[in-house]
Amino acid sequence: MPPAPLTLAAHTVPDPMEAPPVRWGVLAPGGIANVFADAVHEGTRSRVVAVGSRSLERAQEFAGRHGVERAHGSYAELVDDPDVDAVYVASPHSEHHEHALLALRAGKPVLVEKAFTRSLREADEVLETASAAGLLAAEAMWSRYLPHYDVIRRTVEAGTLGDVVVVDADHGQLLWPDGPARLSQPELAGGALLDLGVYPVSFADHVLGGLDGVTAHATLTELGVDATTTIEARGPSGGIAQLWCSMAGATACPARVVGTAARLEVEGRFYNAGSRVRLVAPDNTVLDEFVPQFSTHGFRYEAAEVARALAAGRLETWSMPWAATRRVMAAMDEVRRQVGVVYPGEAARA
Ligand SMILES: NC(=O)c1ccc[n+]([C@@H]2O[C@H](COP(=O)([O-])OP(=O)(O)OC[C@H]3O[C@@H](n4cnc5c(N)ncnc54)[C@H](OP(=O)(O)O)[C@@H]3O)[C@@H](O)[C@H]2O)c1
Repeated sequence: MPPAPLTLAAHTVPDPMEAPPVRWGVLAPGGIANVFADAVHEGTRSRVVAVGSRSLERAQEFAGRHGVERAHGSYAELVDDPDVDAVYVASPHSEHHEHALLALRAGKPVLVEKAFTRSLREADEVLETASAAGLLAAEAMWSRYLPHYDVIRRTVEAGTLGDVVVVDADHGQLLWPDGPARLSQPELAGGALLDLGVYPVSFADHVLGGLDGVTAHATLTELGVDATTTIEARGPSGGIAQLWCSMAGATACPARVVGTAARLEVEGRFYNAGSRVRLVAPDNTVLDEFVPQFSTHGFRYEAAEVARALAAGRLETWSMPWAATRRVMAAMDEVRRQVGVVYPGEAARA
């Protein structure tokens, strides 16, 4: 066996500007839909050609802001728009399942904001529907499509770190009690886990390839969603994940992947497009560093990968395959089971 390299692996993510153009329809023009539209227009060759809102006025406002051709006053009209190639679902977590199914049943591929759904059961229904219809479905966990995530996975796979012993990551943003209403509301599947915790859970899944033996603790709000949650788990090869999230306190959102031969440290928020990755020796010498080419419009990578997958006739993306979405949802189901978070309507539908 040749010795493992003491450098970071090169990333293999193609330039988003080279992806084929897609005519996007945006379903639910809230906060994040604006970020998506800017990234598509400035970072890819695709266009948002239509938007659908529960209110025609809000759809028209969004269309005016982003130069979108058609505004629809219902989601049903949007998914039936014959000039829309793919639908980006940007509604609250509680609605993803219904809205993804609406688009798929109208024959449209879907890119669904994280968390993909509220539960694995809902995710399975969406993915089984996509499979039966022969349509692409992808989770918009945008960080997993970024070049530095590719660098991290390839470096781990190359054996540069030796055996991974620990992955740790946290995501704290002060968003409660005075932040967006959807985060405090159980009926919208609020709480820290599905909104913020999904990032460290997905990061650990990306590095370790799965999360078993989940153990969780949480502080719940008086409405019964989680304000702060800690998670420990174990990957299939034995590496331990130590993760936490909070909407009641802010952190710098660091992440590390510690191995027997070296470690990776992500500088800045670990999930951001501009984050650098350092390869560090056990004696703390910095051996190598990855500096991303672009620090803005990070959503361009997920949009471009969906465009390439559609052109190739694939039903899932390489960066966020269905198996990964299922693993992440299963881990979060187990966390919620242990800490006692149940969203309204779930028990009756289980
Ligand atoms: N990737 C990221 O970095 C990132 C960042 C923030 C949020 N997100 C994700 O994006 C999704 C939306 O978050 P957001 O912050 O954009 O939320 P938001 O600003 O509240 O927008 C959500 C939109 O969904 C529509 N909607 C449909 N049913 C609704 C209901 N029952 N209650 C409230 N709104 C409803 C509304 O649009 P109309 O009524 O006009 O149709 C609303 O504007 C979530 O899944 C969240 O986790 C991702």
